[in-house]
Amino acid sequence: MTDEFDEFARNLQAEIFEETKQAYGTVAFERWLYPKYMGKIDHPDGYARVTGPCQDTMEIFLKFEDGRVSEASFQTDGCGSSAVCGSFAAELALGKTPDELLDVTGNAILKTLGGLPKEDEHCAQLAGETLQEALSNYMQRQVRK
Ligand code: FES
Repeated sequence: MTDEFDEFARNLQAEIFEETKQAYGTVAFERWLYPKYMGKIDHPDGYARVTGPCQDTMEIFLKFEDGRVSEASFQTDGCGSSAVCGSFAAELALGKTPDELLDVTGNAILKTLGGLPKEDEHCAQLAGETLQEALSNYMQRQVRK
């Protein structure tokens, strides 16, 4: 019985994984399995917390060194897609100057992923918007220095 159940569970998981990969693409699927850049950075130089129209919240943390992003991370209480998009927002931010960060938008994240299902595109927009807010927070702190 246990062996049968284990096999059933394994097959079900394989089926779900396959369907997810088909719907979201390999890049998003792999990142969903192994999310990177997740968590909080203490004393960030730029930080933002944005709640999207779906009521999910994204946080982005940035650290700068010599005018470039040296560390980036995200946290979200949102869906799987929001975690994937937050992860890519952080990845795309790494090594960028503030000027270059302006190009890391929701659309840039979608492009990196090769697109997402229509109903999940707003998750990328939330990640992009939060990153832009974190950049703006960094710029405001520079002016105050
Ligand atoms: Fe809200 Fe994905 S459904 S961020």
